Amino acid sequence: MEKKGGKEKRMQSPRGMRDRFGRDLARKKEFFRQASNLAEHYGFQEVETPILEHREVFEKGVGEGTDIVDKEMYTLTTTGGDELVLRPEGTAAMVRVAMEHGFPTLPQPQMWYYAGPFFRHEKPQKGRYRQFDQFGAELMGSENPAHDALVIQLGYEILRLSGRGILVELNTLGTAEERRRYVEELQSFYREHMSDLGEKDRERVETNPLRILDSKDEGTRKVNERAPQLMDYLGEESRAFFEKLKSYLEALSIPYQVVPSLVRGLDYYAHTVFEYVTREGDEKSLALGGGGRYDGLAEILGSQKPIPAVGFALGVDRILELSDPQRFSPEEKLAVYVVSLGERAHREALRLVRELQNLDCRCFLPLSDQKLGKQLEKAEKLGYEHVIILGDNEVERGVVQYKHLPTRKQEEVSLENLFRYLEQLE
Ligand code: HAM
Repeated sequence: MEKKGGKEKRMQSPRGMRDRFGRDLARKKEFFRQASNLAEHYGFQEVETPILEHREVFEKGVGEGTDIVDKEMYTLTTTGGDELVLRPEGTAAMVRVAMEHGFPTLPQPQMWYYAGPFFRHEKPQKGRYRQFDQFGAELMGSENPAHDALVIQLGYEILRLSGRGILVELNTLGTAEERRRYVEELQSFYREHMSDLGEKDRERVETNPLRILDSKDEGTRKVNERAPQLMDYLGEESRAFFEKLKSYLEALSIPYQVVPSLVRGLDYYAHTVFEYVTREGDEKSLALGGGGRYDGLAEILGSQKPIPAVGFALGVDRILELSDPQRFSPEEKLAVYVVSLGERAHREALRLVRELQNLDCRCFLPLSDQKLGKQLEKAEKLGYEHVIILGDNEVERGVVQYKHLPTRKQEEVSLENLFRYLEQLE
């Protein structure tokens, strides 16, 4: 556990995980508040699930052979011998919820949203953490592409709150059967061009050939120019589904671009897949969110009946890093620094602070024995504008001194009038 240079690492947060406080935490909470508000306007209801799930939920759901399951899950064994994992994503967990709570008996479609921490053991870098926050929405019990459009629209509207131009990258993967035939063709194509592929991609030919399509390797990219296209393997129904979805997005004026190499890193998708990126097309920009349709997932998890569904998840950390710092700033509350001088004044200040909470104001009560001048200096350093001063004399007469620090203006206010006085302040 020793770090280079001999520093103890144990008393630091784990790599890729952060402590959050102050403005950073306030913005995250405000993002969740605004996103939840929008989701509820679209008819979605909040669902909260445990942070831990049985390993199988993701092993079966997200799929063996994917990076998330093979390399990135935090697994723990309980004293009872159960294998649990820190959830790496929300969709498989939501389908588990639907199955556990009698989905077929619920009114359809069910529209759920969730927010909170997720865990993937990835290499940390800007915008990529081992503990990160997602805001996700899942619409279950519908095969209608209009619902794909509704889900895409909600994610798009939430992202627009960031102030950045947003583009939806869109693709279709067809049905599981169509994809199976296509993957066979793709594999035999890659086998013929094995020597031109990048090293990592050569391994993927057998394990996850679809991922080779969005490879960054120069050699592989050249090969990909001649690779068979999934679009050519889609049947009539899948094509019609995609055409309808595109027409809905056009009707909603949601900017999208069809990206045939977009396959996403999770196994459960069928038909629609999409990712949200910034429109400015920043070099190497990370996806702000992604999603798609997963009609077969419930059966993979053991459901007797299919649950056709579509959803997205947004990467909250990335959104906050990318958006204008003014965005997601919570409304500033009136903040008052209360200086009490002496034992009697401390007691009165404690009572006063309780009452001031009814005004929804943020009070700071240092209960310090320092001289007034020193305390005012401290208040200024901490960025307070409004100060209330209470000494024995004030307590005796039922008044306080109000001081506006930026102008140094000071006024005596009776306790009776204090509420009204503070309410009038900016
Ligand atoms: P995903 O693409 O794996 O999809 O994750 C969604 C978003 O979470 C990503 O676009 C990214 O913004 C953010 N994200 C992922 N990993 C990290 C990380 N290590 N650090 C920071 N942000 C990250 C899913 O999770 C699916 N469950 C989406 C879905 C919902 N599909 C259908 N319904």
